[in-house]
Amino acid sequence: MKKKILVTGAGGFIGHHLVKSLVSQGHWVRGADIKLPQYEASAAHDFMQVDLRMRDNCAIAVKDMDEVYHLAADMGGIGFISGSHAEITLNNTLISAHMVEAVRYSGLEKFLFSSSACVYPQHLQLSPDVTPLAEDVAWPAQPEEGYGLEKIYMEKLCQYMTEDWKIPTRSVRFHNVYGPLGTYDGGREKAPAAISRKVVLCPDGGEIEVWGDGLQTRSFMYIDDCVEGLCRLMAEDYCAPINLGTDEMITINDLVEIAAEIAGKTITKRHDLTKPQGVRGRNSDNSLIRKVLKWEPTIMIREGLVPTYRWIEEEIAQAHPVRHSVAAE
Ligand code: NAD
Ligand code: GDD
Repeated sequence: MKKKILVTGAGGFIGHHLVKSLVSQGHWVRGADIKLPQYEASAAHDFMQVDLRMRDNCAIAVKDMDEVYHLAADMGGIGFISGSHAEITLNNTLISAHMVEAVRYSGLEKFLFSSSACVYPQHLQLSPDVTPLAEDVAWPAQPEEGYGLEKIYMEKLCQYMTEDWKIPTRSVRFHNVYGPLGTYDGGREKAPAAISRKVVLCPDGGEIEVWGDGLQTRSFMYIDDCVEGLCRLMAEDYCAPINLGTDEMITINDLVEIAAEIAGKTITKRHDLTKPQGVRGRNSDNSLIRKVLKWEPTIMIREGLVPTYRWIEEEIAQAHPVRHSVAAE
């Protein structure tokens, strides 16, 4: 059945792709964001450029909607989220709390909250060969400072909304999402885009800076899998927190090698141990999503990084030719 759907954070990476997908499925979509999408126009039928930290803006955005995908957040890679805990925590708390209050009185059918692997306890992520993180290890909690704290608090609020107000909610724990149209410079970029940018800007035989010793591990999810997973989870009747990511764990050094291979360049790594590194190892345990959806993300990094790398290469060459001369920092 066709729905009226609000996507908050529709000017951002995942929200923009999600809007395109929902519109192509025939839904009527409203996007809301403090900014317009950076790289191409939104496909949304209606786009509200508003600050969702303000209560009234949330109420207007939610009015008459059937479903909400709540993606708006002050967000970035580890360099960004570890850089200003107070501002990020306050901004995301205001956005989410006001959105929940708006939803409470709206008659909404379903509310999906974009949570994060950053909710998982830091003491379980101290080794590169980390045990994949299953949903039930999030408590007792020791989340990522600030950003992760707001995410785990909001997961609980979603649980209470469902229990006390009978509003069906979803809490989806994304594991590092990448793809074309994702931020690749400016300070908010995550490792796949940052490494791709550095490799694009590096001459064959040159050197790039890699944060940490490169032995830290992550799993990375391609944007198409992320959007498909979100739509499938919204359709399924499952309210508790659930992982959405791949369980293909690689080192950051592997990530650099893959990007260099795609570029056809020989690249030397200059490891900088003073730069932000986050947890030592992180991987998704996909047992629950396999059980709930009979599906899981399948696009491997070697496949997904090709269009991502090519898009960043094209962006740098065409949109910002001057950046060719910027040092690969
Ligand atoms: P993004 O930064 O590209 O998108 C977030 C959007 O929220 C931005 O367009 C931003 O302008 C908007 N926003 C921020 N403050 C706002 C405000 N006050 N009012 C209105 N809009 C505001 O990030 P993304 O990668 O698309 O992430 C989407 C969601 O998924 C976020 O909630 C993020 O925390 C979560 N998440 C993403 C990842 C990932 O790897 N991309 C991982 C874990 C969780
Ligand atoms: N960003 C970035 N830039 N990271 C780099 C770089 C670089 O140039 N070089 C190496 N890295 C390393 C980081 O030190 C870190 O150890 C690893 O790559 C991954 O970094 P990010 O992609 O920035 O973040 P993250 O995986 O620690 O956390 C991200 O994913 C979470 C969900 O899984 C963040 O985006 C969080 O906000 C998100 O919730």
